[in-house]
Amino acid sequence: MQTLTITRPDDWHLHLRDGAALKAVLPHTVRQFARAIVMPNLKPPVRSLADATAYRDRILAAIPEGQQFEPLMTLYLTDNTSPDDIIAAKASQFVKAVKYYPAGATTNSEFGVTDIRRCDRVFETMQQVDMPLLLHGEVTHSAVDVFDREKVFIEQQLTPLKQRFPNLRIVLEHITTADSVEFVLSADNMAATITPQHMLFSRNILFKGGIQPHFYCLPILKREQHRLAILKAATSGNPKFFLGTDSAPHGRNRKETSCGCAGCYSALHAMELYAEAFESVDALDKLEAFASFYGPDFYRLPRNSEQITLNKTTWRIPDEVPFPEVGLVPLRAGEEITWQLA
Ligand code: DOR
Ligand code: ZN
Repeated sequence: MQTLTITRPDDWHLHLRDGAALKAVLPHTVRQFARAIVMPNLKPPVRSLADATAYRDRILAAIPEGQQFEPLMTLYLTDNTSPDDIIAAKASQFVKAVKYYPAGATTNSEFGVTDIRRCDRVFETMQQVDMPLLLHGEVTHSAVDVFDREKVFIEQQLTPLKQRFPNLRIVLEHITTADSVEFVLSADNMAATITPQHMLFSRNILFKGGIQPHFYCLPILKREQHRLAILKAATSGNPKFFLGTDSAPHGRNRKETSCGCAGCYSALHAMELYAEAFESVDALDKLEAFASFYGPDFYRLPRNSEQITLNKTTWRIPDEVPFPEVGLVPLRAGEEITWQLA
């Protein structure tokens, strides 16, 4: 296949940051996607409808002249989120979900939830008003091996949560393991997003020839058997699995340092990376539904009507793209890629 024309996709899990960083990265996403679910882990986080309204306005103001893009907002769940916060957010029409970060799990998660059971009143309201819950599904206790944190989260927290709130619609974000695939398949009202890096790389890449900070994200890349399970799920044509890049920009200095931040930057070339992953298992015919249909179907939004075209052309991913002060290193920087968004 030499060209692939599909319905314009959306990104159901994206970090856009704020200020000058937002202005640097937003054009990449706007080129690829019509809409995105925007993560709320700013400093301080987006906790209320007022925060989300102001952040949305800043995003809208940063959209390049003449281009179309719809930011879909999320609230950051804390120990202090109230049922009224949910009701107000739902009424806004543009807050589409609430994001759970376990306190201390990842970038800017220090305001996150200390014990998921503390949020049961809020989950009750979310279930009632049909507000989806997005999970960073990892436990954080230091006794649990970093490669097992997702699996233990499912066992200790998600399974009981599903029993308490069977009708709450949940997205297990950026899944990385065969255990997550199995759980999502087995549960009603449950979907998952999948990133390009978890389809393309196992944890071996983290140590290929030396430590590779630009492949470090959370949840961390796993063994090859898990990558294969994720690849299979994404390309299976099952509507429970849809696109969410988790593109997470950190300037070069925050990645190439003695204690580097978690996050892979893929907004520049997301659809090209996904196309490579789907092509690797001869499943390009499944890309459109994964990227453009199952996400809006889950969020009960209309599918996009415009199209994009990907051409089979080899090009070199730049070493760096502009970012305030230091530059930003995209995923697989400096390497060749065989698809290109027209
Ligand atoms: O790798 C990650 N980066 N995982 C997350 O959960 C957060 C994200 C970020 O905001 O940098
Ligand atoms: Zn994320």
